[in-house]
Amino acid sequence: MKIAIMGAMPEEVEPIVSQLDNLKKTVYAANTYYEGSYKGQEVVVAYSKIGKVFATLTATILIEKFNCDTLLFSGVAGAISDDLKIGDLIIADGLCQHDLDITAFGHPYGFVPEGEVCIPTDVSLRNIAKEVASNKGLTLKEGVIATGDQFVANAERKDWIGDTFKAAALEMEGASVAVVCSALDIPFFILRAISDSADMDASFNFDEFLESSAKISANFILSMVAAIQAE
Ligand code: ADE
Repeated sequence: MKIAIMGAMPEEVEPIVSQLDNLKKTVYAANTYYEGSYKGQEVVVAYSKIGKVFATLTATILIEKFNCDTLLFSGVAGAISDDLKIGDLIIADGLCQHDLDITAFGHPYGFVPEGEVCIPTDVSLRNIAKEVASNKGLTLKEGVIATGDQFVANAERKDWIGDTFKAAALEMEGASVAVVCSALDIPFFILRAISDSADMDASFNFDEFLESSAKISANFILSMVAAIQAE
C-alpha cells in the first residue's frame, strides 16, 4: 500500500511532512511532492494550492505518477452546521460541488450528466477514523461536505449551500478529490478541522485559526496512517 496525503495549503501539510522519515522531494508539474514513510508506512504528501482545478491536478498526479492506491485529505473547512465549532473534526460521508450549476437545463444543483451530486467516501477508511477517534477520546462529526471555488464569508450563501446539499461544512477541494478517486477507483477519505463559520467573520477567523485547526487535522491523519499500517 502507498498512501497519498493531500492538503490544499502549506499549513495543512507541513505538520505531516515534518514527521516523515526517509524524505525525498520531487518537483513535478509546478508542484512539490514529498515521498517518505511514517511508522514504516510508505506515503506521498503534497499540497495542491487552493481550489478545485489545482486539487484535481494534484490528486491525479499522486495516483497516476506516484502510484498511490489510497488517498487521505487533511485540511480546514468552514462550518455550516451550528454544532461544528472551531477546531472540531468532521469527516465527509460524501462530497458535492455547490458551485456546479446547469439548472438552466432542468438539472439539480451540483449535477452534470454522467456525474452524481454527492460522491460517497470509502466506508472502511471512515471506520478506521472512528476507531482512531474512539481510542483518542475525540469526537468526530460525519456529514456531507460541499466544495466550490469560493471562500464563503456570507451567512446567506452558507445557508443556501446547507439547505440545498444537506451539507454540514464547506471547503474548496474535497469534491475534486472525490471525482478523481471515484473515476480511478481509489479509496479516499476527507478530513477537515473547522477554521471558521463561513459567515461575515470568516476571513478573520480563518487567518487566526488556519494553523491550529490544520494541525488538529494533520495529527489525526498521522494517527490514521499508523492505524492503517498496524492492520
Ligand atoms: N475553508 C475554510 N473555511 C472556508 C470558507 N469559509 N469557505 C471556503 N473554504 C473554506
